[in-house]
Amino acid sequence: MSEPTTFNLPTRLRRLRQHPAARDLICETHVSVNDLIYPIFIVAGSDIKQEIRSMPGQYQWSIDRLPELLDTVISAGISSVLLFGLPDVKDAQGSSSWHDAGVVQQACRVIRQHAPELFCIVDVCFCEYTTHGHCGVITKNARGQLGVDNDTTLTNLGKQALSLAHAGADMLAPSGMMDGMVAAIRQVLDANDFSMLPIMSYAVKFASNLYGPFRDAADGAPQFGDRRGYQMNPANGNLAMREAELDIQEGADILMVKPAGYYLDVVSRVKNKWPAVPLAAYQVSGEYAMLKLAIKHDFADAESLMLESLIAIKRAGADCIISYFAVEAARLLQKR
Ligand code: PBG
Ligand code: ZN
Repeated sequence: MSEPTTFNLPTRLRRLRQHPAARDLICETHVSVNDLIYPIFIVAGSDIKQEIRSMPGQYQWSIDRLPELLDTVISAGISSVLLFGLPDVKDAQGSSSWHDAGVVQQACRVIRQHAPELFCIVDVCFCEYTTHGHCGVITKNARGQLGVDNDTTLTNLGKQALSLAHAGADMLAPSGMMDGMVAAIRQVLDANDFSMLPIMSYAVKFASNLYGPFRDAADGAPQFGDRRGYQMNPANGNLAMREAELDIQEGADILMVKPAGYYLDVVSRVKNKWPAVPLAAYQVSGEYAMLKLAIKHDFADAESLMLESLIAIKRAGADCIISYFAVEAARLLQKR
């Protein structure tokens, strides 16, 4: 008895995987430099370019040295940045976040001057500006426990947002997970001639262990407790849909899911339910740090590991990606 050498199969999907051009022709997902947003940490002081220990290749920049970085960002082809500020003074309210001469306000003005074509997004929160490191004002609840007071924080968010708008921010990105934060900011902006200033809401933000390196980077670790009183439980995918829905109702222009890599199911669900709502995903500090460690130890090829992580986020449904790899990835994409 002779064994068949060719089987009669319904089709052969490998046919289009033989020639590289054929593989390209049928490629469904593309990452473009236009999709990428690069986070920048601005620190008070002068002549500072300080590498972040847990995020090799990422730095804190003082305002006087910011133009150096802006040139790099622009020459890589990146057109959007997301600013975080590390102020010189902190207090219980985080009031330096709404000072006219605050560190991020100054950075916005430098960007307006030095790189007016850049789309300048600013993170709106208090954890970098408060002595206690929480994302709002601390009060005692009815049981005598300390926690972030939602509505007092909303009032302060309005002040911060307005100050950033006056400084020239192109889009505001509230990240504190306060209920009503989008509506509160929208109301203040609209009442002050900034009705055309868009809001990208950290709508679905999980209380993730993957923010560890960021807390080095932005010096915003909570000094007591954790953020589970306002950020979401990583176990909750259905509730994520309610968070997204509320932010749409409150007028968010772009929704964000954060972190990205562990939460691709959430990215996918939000995009499928609201295909017409622009969606961002944040590949956070811990995702970056893990990949960098793997690369450092030669566990994987740096370029393809990085690109695969970005493609996966787009395939899941994100329209744009906030990533510490943005500049590196953009350089790579330019070469191709
Ligand atoms: C603060 C904020 C955090 C991040 C962005 N904005 C940290 C946190 O919520 O603890 C995380 C970003 C990252 O890890 O890259 N509201
Ligand atoms: Zn915060």
